[in-house]
Amino acid sequence: FTVPPPTNEPTKNYAPGSPERVALEAALKDIQQALPFEVPCVVNGKEVRTGNLDKQPIPSTHAKHLCTFHNATPEVLKSAIDGALKAQKQWESLPWADRAAIFLRAADLAATKYRYQLVAATMLGQGKTIWQAEIDAACELIDFWRFGAHFVQELYAIQPKSSEGVWNRVEYRPLEGFVLAVSPFNFTAIGGNLVGAPALVGNVVVWKPAPAATYASYIVFKILVEAGIPPGVIQFVPGPAEEVVGQAIAHPSFAALHFTGSTHVFRKLWKDIGNNIDKYRAYPRIVGETGGKNWHVVHPSADVKNAVMQTVRGAFEYQGQKCSACSRLYVPRSLWEQGGFKQQLLDETAKIAVGDVTKFTNFLGPVIGRPAWDRITSTVAKAKEEGAQVLVGGGADDSTGYFVQPTVLLTTDPQSLTMSQEIFGPVLTVYVYEDSKWEETLDLLDSTSIYALTGAIFAQDRNVLAQTAARLRHAAGNVYLNDKCTGAVVGQQPFGGGRASGTNDKSGSIGIFYRFTSARAVKESF
Ligand code: ALA
Repeated sequence: FTVPPPTNEPTKNYAPGSPERVALEAALKDIQQALPFEVPCVVNGKEVRTGNLDKQPIPSTHAKHLCTFHNATPEVLKSAIDGALKAQKQWESLPWADRAAIFLRAADLAATKYRYQLVAATMLGQGKTIWQAEIDAACELIDFWRFGAHFVQELYAIQPKSSEGVWNRVEYRPLEGFVLAVSPFNFTAIGGNLVGAPALVGNVVVWKPAPAATYASYIVFKILVEAGIPPGVIQFVPGPAEEVVGQAIAHPSFAALHFTGSTHVFRKLWKDIGNNIDKYRAYPRIVGETGGKNWHVVHPSADVKNAVMQTVRGAFEYQGQKCSACSRLYVPRSLWEQGGFKQQLLDETAKIAVGDVTKFTNFLGPVIGRPAWDRITSTVAKAKEEGAQVLVGGGADDSTGYFVQPTVLLTTDPQSLTMSQEIFGPVLTVYVYEDSKWEETLDLLDSTSIYALTGAIFAQDRNVLAQTAARLRHAAGNVYLNDKCTGAVVGQQPFGGGRASGTNDKSGSIGIFYRFTSARAVKESF
């Protein structure tokens, strides 16, 4: 038997008056009437209320918060790890198809019964517009689980050659110990994948969700429980990062880190894991997807209208808070003024409506919270001091929620602050290069790419596309030709980057599943 061939979950269009629009509005209303929710830790199938409370704000409005959650204490985390290790034997012995069935069922629940709740919770809690929430908390989450079951089947089928009298095979064993999943605020789906990928191949997982995504993560967790995840296999432990993660990686049975978040934190964890190395039974797997300083580079042969539209979407959708978001743009002098690039970019950016995501005509919502708002606004101020020119935007308003206008800066210094540092907000910096310096510009781009997550090349000249992609081979793990540098789809564009952007293990592909298995080769002679 085989798992059903996966197809990507289609996006709903939410046209006014459509059944999905009505259902989503009802889900938003239900949440708004019932909030704030209370989110416990869930350990060994039991809810634990530690009384050590934190709040998940609603970034669109200071007046309310979405949930209050119980932070795991050291005792709770200890019992989560002990319980996971106890659950491990039975979980890894389960035929893989039974594990796959749980995730296929969870995908169906996310696609039907819980779809609008997931989307509404992600809109309110993480400040996503309806479309951004749909492609994340519905489609990508569902795809991660459906394609995941399929990738596991493909992985297990990869077997060595045998010969007469000898049967060779490979067993893709789960890791010996527990996996620690640390998920980010910006994609509800990523939490589902950080726990799903290791669990599908028989691992047990201790899951620390981002505080700013607690409620949507809790819905994801509850879907997995309803789909049949046995108690203890995935332990839900919100809590302060330093304490929870610090305690987990100091445990002798720590087997892997599955992380999405900042480069700074990932590097720190890597060092901490190194410092603990003598405690572990096996070398832990460290799998991380972190930051980016993603680029669009426009060749003089590019279609200007397309390059502008893709840049606006790549830079500003979800307020630039995708690790893949475009934040630096290289445009040739010939296209910038004369070619109409500048005017179109400014016109399209100025048109963008910013505001509360429950007003569906807003294209941008709030940034995630106070620290983000402060960081983005102070970075723009500093860039201005250093000589960058604000071409459009530059405003911000935190009086009711954390709103930042989509902002385009122009710099003459390709090494300046906003051309080199990740901002994680709706800020795009443009550098105009001389057409005669195309080659030098590519070298400059590559040499200033500390990160290497995503990038996009715009050209109509086929030779240019091919040569540029080859030349910038290491400057991005996902490169797009004449398309924006965001929006990788599970099963279509395996996602991840190199250099400071992560271990490039390619979520949304078979690649990630290798990392959570430890193969055993078996030779049998007859
Ligand atoms: N995987 C997400 C994207 O490609 C982050 O935009």
